[in-house]
This record gives sequence, C-alpha cells and structure tokens, in this order.
Amino acid sequence: MQSPPNLTELASRYWESAALNAAVSLGLFPFLSETPATAEAVSEGLNCAQQHTEALLDSLCGLGVLSKKDDKYTLPEALKPLLDPSSPDCLLGALAFNADLFQLWGKLPECVQSGQPVLPANPHLGSDPARTRRFVEGMHSRAGIMARGLLPAIVPEPHSRILDVGGGPGTFSVKLLERDATLSATVLDLPPVVQAAAEIHAGNPVLNRLRFQGGDYHTADYPADQDLVLYCGALHQEPEDGLPALFTRMKAALKPTGSLCVVDLMVSDDRTQPVYSALFQLNMMLMRPASRVHSIGDVQSVLRGAGFSPAAPEEISGTPYTLIRATP
Ligand SMILES: C[S@@+](CC[C@H](N)C(=O)[O-])C[C@H]1O[C@@H](n2cnc3c(N)ncnc32)[C@H](O)[C@@H]1O
Repeated sequence: MQSPPNLTELASRYWESAALNAAVSLGLFPFLSETPATAEAVSEGLNCAQQHTEALLDSLCGLGVLSKKDDKYTLPEALKPLLDPSSPDCLLGALAFNADLFQLWGKLPECVQSGQPVLPANPHLGSDPARTRRFVEGMHSRAGIMARGLLPAIVPEPHSRILDVGGGPGTFSVKLLERDATLSATVLDLPPVVQAAAEIHAGNPVLNRLRFQGGDYHTADYPADQDLVLYCGALHQEPEDGLPALFTRMKAALKPTGSLCVVDLMVSDDRTQPVYSALFQLNMMLMRPASRVHSIGDVQSVLRGAGFSPAAPEEISGTPYTLIRATP
C-alpha cells in the first residue's frame, strides 16, 4: 500500500519546476556554461533584477541544478553535458519545450471542468512555426538521450527497411542508420514537422538512406515491404478506437517476416502507475483531449485484434517508455 504524501510539500513541488523553467527561459545555462559567474554578472548578462536573480540562483543550487563556490555560480560537472548548448547531449531544447507547456498546467482546473484543451489548435504541430520548431528541437534533444536506452533494444537485421511512423525529428532513425550502414528508413510525420526535422539533420551523410515523408499517418500511403515499423512516442496521441485501423495499416506495410515495435508511455491496467505516465495523460489533455496513455493490456489486445502477435512488454532503461514488439 502506498503511503500518503506530505500534502503541503506536494502542493509546493511546482516551485521547483518553475525555478528550472525560469532558468531555461531566461537563458541562464548557456550563460553559465561559458564560465562561473557572480549573481551580479548573471543579472547584468541576462538583464534581470540582481536580488531576484540571486534568489533564483540560490534556489537552483539548493535543487542541485547549480553549484556555488565563494560567490560564483557554476554548472555541476554531472549536468554540464545536458546544459551546455555546445554539448551533443544538450537537453536544453527539451527543457525549453517543457517550459512552453508550464503555463498550461496552471489552467488544469478549467481543462478538467470543461473537457476542452487550454491550447487551441495544435501550435506545436504546424500552426505556429516557432513553437513547431521548438517542439521538434525538443524531441530531437530528448531523443538523443533516450536513444541510449532504446537503440540497444532495437537492432534491425542488416539491410532492413524501416518505417518510422510519427517519427518526429527522425532522431532514432538517424541513429539506427548511423549504427548500420546497410539500413534505410522512411520517417513519416506531419509536413511542418518533417520540414523542421530535415533542417535539423541537414548535411548528415545518412540522409542518402533516409527519406522524410510529410503526411498524416492515418491516411498517407505507407511504403510497402518494410522489415520494421517503429511507432515510438506517438501512441499516446491516439484514442483507443483509432488504434485498430492504424495497426492494420502498419501490418499491411510489413513483410510477413517483419515486425512492429510500439514504444511509448503506458500505464498499469488500473491506470494509476507509473505516476509520470498517469500525469502525462493530463499533460496531453491540456492540448489534445482525445489523447490516451494506453495500458499495456489494451495495447496488446488491440494488436491481437489487428492480427499481430504481441510479445511481453519490455521497459526501456533510462526512459519512461515501454516497448511491445509484435509480429504479423
Ligand atoms: C512525441 S512525438 C515522437 C516523435 C519520435 N517518434 C520520437 O520518439 O522522438 C509524436 C509525433 O507524432 C506525430 N504525429 C501526431 N499525429 C500524427 C499524424 N496524424 N500523422 C503523422 N504524424 C503525427 C507528431 O507530429 C510528433 O512528431
């Protein structure tokens, strides 16, 4: 039995996210990645009020996000790869996208009451080019880190043709192709998203084996004879009644010897655990009311209904994701 939380502590936990999001929005980490700095230097550099800057910096030290020595603030060694914009593992894009969503959570009561999203349309998916770009860059930076857990679990046979449905920035496909020069891939996503993705990977030599296809994955033509269909991080956008048709389309795109990998947040059958996935359901409802974080049992059952044989779920280490492999 889970012990009840300390309610006053739980009620204030958003302060911690707010402090981190403010630091991201103000550009604190790129500033400090250059060199340690005093509160005065930071406030001047970021054009902020000094006392307030100091309070933010001290709080971030308390959270372990910064270190303080004498009167200078710096990035802790362990976080430098994630917070330094010049690092290949930089997570700032993902954190900036998270900061974008932060205001939406303040409107959660309205959302729950009305059943309506608090963000009209889909600014991340095309209607607002700047937000779309932040979304795709955020997914790219997050995928770079998650790939450490995902890539060892996904090892296509040499010469495989991969269809990456809802592939977003295409980062996983790019990394699969970088690891094995015999593979080729199609990344299918909405036109504004694949446009931003193609810009992110411009100049990468694997692009001669990777095709970006702009389209709605419910209706777009899928390339035929695929060895692997990867459906990663997009399942939670689909209501349950949309899944059978989608899985049927994926099955039709596969060779008889091919396989489907469904990777996403999934919840327990009672829908309460893991708590991050349960909360993610709310996160999605703030924008897309029809979204659904599916339970593992439901995903397996819909896969069976679409003619797949699903395997037991696998947890992807270092990510909140579950992988279900399925063969036609
Ligand atoms: C959370 S992202 C995951 C991206 C990528 N697979 C990854 O794991 O990094 C979900 C992706 O699904 C795409 N998507 C959602 N609905 C779609 C649709 N109807 N057709 C094509 N792509 C869609 C979104 O644009 C987004 O890029």
